[in-house]
Amino acid sequence: MKQKEITIRYNEYTPKELSTLQSNLIKQSVKAQESSHSPYSNFRVGAAILLESGEIVLGSNQENAAYPSGLCAERVAIFTCGSNHPSKKINAIAISASSTKFDLNELLAPCGACRQSMLEFEYKQNSNIKVLLKGANNQVVEFGSIKDLLPIPFNCDAFQNIS
Ligand code: THU
Repeated sequence: MKQKEITIRYNEYTPKELSTLQSNLIKQSVKAQESSHSPYSNFRVGAAILLESGEIVLGSNQENAAYPSGLCAERVAIFTCGSNHPSKKINAIAISASSTKFDLNELLAPCGACRQSMLEFEYKQNSNIKVLLKGANNQVVEFGSIKDLLPIPFNCDAFQNIS
């Protein structure tokens, strides 16, 4: 038996340490929360995606009376990029959340389905997507790649075509 280890490095910034680009993307993710449709969870999530062209694409969580029919902010934003900007690379995504009902006392990290969906875009564009997460005390955490959030992913390359 061999014991193996995975190390994930990420950066934590105070608001003052952020670049203008990072701070703007976080602000845009907060703005994206305004269009959240979340009457069931009261949990507003916003995502802002920076394309290589400099354009910013926003997404927010969209809930439904039939709960599983809703969609998370990250997937709303990234699928919008796939639909409307299919040939533009994605440089970064910023994610933030707020609630009138709950105190957010931790960092909001994307759910597993969003991580898998975002990873597909890294494969498709063959380059990393940075992830900025806004924490409770206004600190921001930055990961260099979606792979850092999903270190052992489901990946079709794992299967060899035998035909
Ligand atoms: N939600 C997101 O938008 N992103 C995530 O990564 C996790 C959860 C949304 C889905 C639902 O509208 C609400 O937050 C509560 O789960």
